Amino acid sequence: MSKQPSGPDNAAAWDRLAEPYQRHVGWPDDHLAWGLRCPPEEDLGLVSDVVGDARTVVLGCGGGQDLVALARLGAGPLTGVDPSSGQLEHARQRLSRAGLTARLETRPATDLAPLDDASADLVVSVQAFDYVHDLERAFAEIRRVLRPGGVFAMSVLHPADLSTEDAAPYGWHTPYHQQQRDWVWDGLADREVALRSWFRSPAAWFTAVTAAGLTVQRLEEPVAVDARPWIERGWLDATTAAKLDVVPGTILLRARRD
Ligand SMILES: C[S@@+](CC[C@H](N)C(=O)[O-])C[C@H]1O[C@@H](n2cnc3c(N)ncnc32)[C@H](O)[C@@H]1O
Repeated sequence: MSKQPSGPDNAAAWDRLAEPYQRHVGWPDDHLAWGLRCPPEEDLGLVSDVVGDARTVVLGCGGGQDLVALARLGAGPLTGVDPSSGQLEHARQRLSRAGLTARLETRPATDLAPLDDASADLVVSVQAFDYVHDLERAFAEIRRVLRPGGVFAMSVLHPADLSTEDAAPYGWHTPYHQQQRDWVWDGLADREVALRSWFRSPAAWFTAVTAAGLTVQRLEEPVAVDARPWIERGWLDATTAAKLDVVPGTILLRARRD
């Protein structure tokens, strides 16, 4: 088990970001969106064969968008896990507006103690594992709560995107293999918010998931879909959208507990 180096408190940071993030950044809940300009789930089929009536846990569920989208695909009963109570309050409100219920747990992905062994058919995480330092512990917990045959599916930001400049010719500003990054989200909350992320390569994800005793079924860097709907709906600015024509934006992974 690796100890998290002392640094920014990501849960406290997300408590401060929650309100402006949900108001000004947001995330789709009308479809399961794995990443920015990512093909929709109906084209990817990352979980479509297992989602129906699946006892589903969403790790880093944030404002609940992915819980709502998974419910629309037939998943349930649902559990949402996130260490930020501010984010979970938005999830509670979103679920209520959608007429849905979910068990919500305020905790990190590394500690799922209230969830029983083999109690989930499906564990999902959308764009949250970049904030998880101790993958060994998180994947041990995922393996514990999944029933044999259960599926884990996740997406994270691609380190090639995070290591290169936003404008052409997209030169490197950080070594590709430097995982830990301290950064500041400026201009969203009333003051700067410091965060610590870990951006891992597809190979590093494969190694970590396999070491936990899960069998990787898919590991993908999808080609970006049409940018226009993402820009029109305010989820992407034009510059970031254009970059995703050149640089991969998302890593997708699906693994199975044998
Ligand atoms: C970019 S949001 C993603 C939420 C949602 N899936 C979305 O796309 O909007 C990242 C989420 O990860 C959560 N998070 C931070 N540290 C975490 C941890 N150790 N375990 C699980 N979630 C974490 C944050 O609180 C935040 O809600």
